[in-house]
Amino acid sequence: MVRVLLTGGAGFIGSHTALALLEAGHSPLIVDDLSNAHPDSISRIAQISGVAIPALIVDVRDEAAVSGFLQEHGPVDAVIHLAGLKAVGESVAQPERYYDVNIGSTLALLRVMKKHEIHNLVFSSSATVYGASENVPHAEDAHVGHGISNPYGKTKHMIEEILRDVSAADEQLRITALRYFNPVGAHPSGLIGEDPRGVPNNLMPIVARVASGALDSVVVFGDDYPTSDGTGVRDYIHVQDLAQGHVRAAERALPGFEAINLGTGVPASVLDVIREYGAAAGLNIPYRVAKRRPGDIAVSYADVSKARAVLDWQAKRTLADACRDDWAWQQNGAKLRQA
Ligand code: WQD
Repeated sequence: MVRVLLTGGAGFIGSHTALALLEAGHSPLIVDDLSNAHPDSISRIAQISGVAIPALIVDVRDEAAVSGFLQEHGPVDAVIHLAGLKAVGESVAQPERYYDVNIGSTLALLRVMKKHEIHNLVFSSSATVYGASENVPHAEDAHVGHGISNPYGKTKHMIEEILRDVSAADEQLRITALRYFNPVGAHPSGLIGEDPRGVPNNLMPIVARVASGALDSVVVFGDDYPTSDGTGVRDYIHVQDLAQGHVRAAERALPGFEAINLGTGVPASVLDVIREYGAAAGLNIPYRVAKRRPGDIAVSYADVSKARAVLDWQAKRTLADACRDDWAWQQNGAKLRQA
């Protein structure tokens, strides 16, 4: 049994990871400031699992509060650090805030870990660290950090470098950076899922809003890419698989510093997502083609061999599973929001 401090545990990835930890027999604590989480998220985790996870509602950079919380509810064996800002477009408009929150929260957490003698850290990194590289599938030993087009992605790369250096200076530290590809889907209960504030940037929440009638049509950013149907290709990983990858990383506590891809290794285009979502919802999802979105790359998907080799983990769910579960969440979530 691993006792885990889960920062950002009320968010999209965090809430699914909290449930996956409980299902695997582990004991999570949550710290989250709810800045990008539904206020009911923690009560819904309790409703699904039957467990009331102790939660501290603060900014992770409030070291005294986090330390006091660990004093009261600890000790913990590991930290899974998901708290951070993640909107690519917003990061371009507010770079200082992104560097302050994402890097500042990580440095604060490292100080708290040292104080409480916690040596195992799992960090939420991102495939954006591969930047403009067109060398796909992306493997972890590739050069990273070149051609990252936004401050959000740059914070992920900078934090990986910080963690590499911190790990080299303290041999007791065991740090795993999980490079997410494109998280999609929802918990099969339909009670938690992706619930972006305002107008979403990411593709699947937009497709979901068109399916539920909140938006008229999907705008496809370019159909002139060198891909099978001309639209952008990505690696869409079900959030349940992603959550289980975090559990495995916390359990394995790999020595030193390791960066590991969490993806399916299965490329899918924008039109594939629209088609699969339409099939899951039993609807024809309208779309129109516009010009490419600045900063987008044509193709990105994961080499998944390292995760299989060192974590004994691989994604099990398909894009169709993710569309089905997200659609159930959209329908159920709408009822919950009306309640
Ligand atoms: C996917 C594809 C778009 C919206 C981002 C972050 C990354 C990670 C995942 C956290 C692309 C196309 C999109 C739309 C479209 N987040 N698209 N119309 O850009 O791969 O990655 O989310 O780790 O850090 O950068 O995801 O969902 O925005 O785009 O045609 O309205 O869908 O061009 O090909 P992306 P996305």
